[in-house]
Amino acid sequence: MNDPTKDPRFLHDPYPTYAAMRSACPVQAVPTGSSGHSSYLVTGYAEARQALGDPRLSKNTAAFFADKRSRRRLHPAVAHNMLASDPPQHTRLRKLVTKAFTTGAVAELRPFIAGVTNTLLDRWPVGGQVDFIASLAVPLPVIVICELLGVPEADRPEVQRWSAELFAAGKPDRIDAASHSVADYMTGLIAAKRLRPGDALLDRLIAVRDGTDQLSEEELVSLAVLLLVAGHETTTNLLGNAALALLQHPAELERLRSNPEDVPTSLDELLRFDSPVSTATFRYTTEAVTLGGTEIPAGVPVLVALGAANRDPERFSSPDQLKLDRDAVGHLGFGHGIHRCVGAPLAKAEADIALRTILSRFPGIRLAVSPDQLDWRRTRLVRGLASLPVLTVATTLPRLPA
Ligand code: HEM
Repeated sequence: MNDPTKDPRFLHDPYPTYAAMRSACPVQAVPTGSSGHSSYLVTGYAEARQALGDPRLSKNTAAFFADKRSRRRLHPAVAHNMLASDPPQHTRLRKLVTKAFTTGAVAELRPFIAGVTNTLLDRWPVGGQVDFIASLAVPLPVIVICELLGVPEADRPEVQRWSAELFAAGKPDRIDAASHSVADYMTGLIAAKRLRPGDALLDRLIAVRDGTDQLSEEELVSLAVLLLVAGHETTTNLLGNAALALLQHPAELERLRSNPEDVPTSLDELLRFDSPVSTATFRYTTEAVTLGGTEIPAGVPVLVALGAANRDPERFSSPDQLKLDRDAVGHLGFGHGIHRCVGAPLAKAEADIALRTILSRFPGIRLAVSPDQLDWRRTRLVRGLASLPVLTVATTLPRLPA
């Protein structure tokens, strides 16, 4: 059994492969690594939604790995977190987090996000070439999460470095080491905040109560690490994938430049069209489950290809076309069900501000290389560019967004 997602062309453009798999069978077995075992890949929209809402698909991955020998040395705070848990534990953690991480907290961050975006764009050459990924899409999300959590400015470069290490695809030792550095750092930060409370999200998480319930020390560390991990590379890839989609569709880009107030509603279509989280984190069956007519045995991993589901023609007409004015609200880019992304409003605020500011300050921006020369990161769960060279065209009036 060949795994079509291992084809090098898949990294560049996974959508023809996803379409072929979906029409053959929207839920099918694919080989897992070199072990000869199978996992199941879900590529249909209806089946993906059903899988994400099915309590028989567990996210308690620690339990799944407990009986399998692993040489990984990930810090427990990274291995055990809200995203890797089921109800009732998940319900309890999520309730406490959403009490602290409110829409008000995101709204308060908007001026900060605009300030960082402008500072990063001040370094762009006017009338030259720049890498959109390295100069904006990577630094912006991690600086914003540090601000949100309350990481002091002096510590941010180090946190940024560990955070980059956590995404060293194919380098398990480096990832494991970085997980310890980040978790140890967060443990120290929480202790410091207990002595001198501030008003950042981490302070609110320390203080949050639900009746008599509150987060334990371990839970606080694991949440702080989860927010850093879950909110960094994902947002980087949203910025990169959205920018690329717009640069490849100049008429749509021009329409947005003339109507920047449409940017927030266009984000759903951009998330649908080239989803930054191509495949949701893995789930496994706690009992045999029939999904989309396929019998999945008990105890096997199930991967939900959100990027494939978002291109299902049964749900979105002409799914391979970018149509910024379509109603894409039902897309699965942020997942679905009880684990749906907690950070969606923050990710959207960052993308809204970044795209609007670029369109305003660099209206003539265009791709510096042909799309087939672009280098995609060699990862399977998230989909994003290693670099995105763009040309900025000289403008006479650099403007800040209103
Ligand atoms: C464009 C950017 C983002 C995308 C596409 C994205 C996508 C997702 C997806 C698909 C899931 C569900 C995974 C699954 O069910 O397997 C998820 C969960 C989560 N995301 Fe995001 N995310 C983004 C940004 C963020 C940000 C900025 C934060 C926080 C600062 C964040 C925090 C989380 C957390 C904590 C969870 C776990 C929720 C739970 O287990 O209940 N995400 N995200």
